[in-house]
Formats: sequence, structure tokens, C-alpha cells
Amino acid sequence: MFCAGRASEKKTMLRILVLHGPNLNLLGRREQSIYGSQSLDSIDAALTKLADELAVDVDIRQSNSEGELVNWIQESGSGYQGIIINPAAYTHTSIAIRDALAAVALPTVEVHLSNIHQREPFRHHSHIAAVALGQISGLGSIGYLLALRGLHDHLSAPRKLKKSSPASRRQKTASR
Ligand code: DQA
Repeated sequence: MFCAGRASEKKTMLRILVLHGPNLNLLGRREQSIYGSQSLDSIDAALTKLADELAVDVDIRQSNSEGELVNWIQESGSGYQGIIINPAAYTHTSIAIRDALAAVALPTVEVHLSNIHQREPFRHHSHIAAVALGQISGLGSIGYLLALRGLHDHLSAPRKLKKSSPASRRQKTASR
């Protein structure tokens, strides 16, 4: 049965890409004292539930490969309005992921389960933060839900929020 209402609703729905970086597939088994006992599947289920409540379409992916994450970010330039990313260890090493995010210039929220600023010095620097709308670090899996709420709010009421993403700000300045 064709339902015109649903079809047009789907067309206007916000689409958000959620990316989990390396080793996050091991959540629930990996260093539980740092990352907790929740599995990635259960985090994704909570995100999907909240997305339904907010009428947002989320596309959730995990990869251990930097190149695959870069390809997905590049592809998100068409069809998505925002990105939530936990780049995991690539946070601290990947200029390629940072450059891909800057290139697509979509509002991006960086999420970390642990508080990276309280951990080893090599985790204190994020290559991603400078091109992100914001960073949520240290609140466990709730951080992903806050990121989705925040991004939804940002994308639904752009004029209310004066702050645009640093990447899109840079693009606007460059095109002047
Ligand atoms: C992490 C923090 C990173 O330093 C680490 O490499 C991860 C997970 C977090 O979610 O707390 O794999 O991004």
C-alpha cells in the first residue's frame, strides 16, 4: 500500500551518520573498567530508539579501518545532514579523518565514552575537535544520546544557534 504521508515524512527526515572507530566492536568485553559493560549493539539499539522518538534517520557503522571511515565520511557529503563520530584511537592520530570531516563540512559531534583528558597524555589531543561542532567525553554511552539530541537541536533550529560548525565557518570564510 502506498502511503504518501510516510513517504514525504521520510524525504524530509534528518539523516545522521553515526561512525564508531577501531576496537569499539569489542565494547562490553574490552577494558570494562574504562569503557563499561555495555556492548556496541546495545548502544546502537538505544541510539536507534532515540532516533525514532526524534524522527531522525540514523545510519550506524563501525570500522577498524581508517580508510573505510574516510570513505564513509566523504560519501556522507550527499544525503546526510550531520555526523556523530567516536574515532576511538584515530582521534589522536588521524589527520586523514580530520581532513575528510573538514571537506564535507557537516556539523559533527565527537563522542568518547571515557574522559580522554583525564587519561594518558597521548589521548589528550584530538585532531577531530577543531573541526567538530562539539565534543562529549567521559559520560559513557549516554554521550551518544546527548550527541544525537544536540545535533538534532542544532539542525532543527539553525537560526536559534549562533554557533555554526568550525568546518563550515572556515568554508564560508574561504569562499568570500
Ligand atoms: C575512546 C578513547 C580513545 O582514546 C580510545 O583509543 C578508544 C575509545 C573512548 O570512547 O573513550 O578506543 O574514543
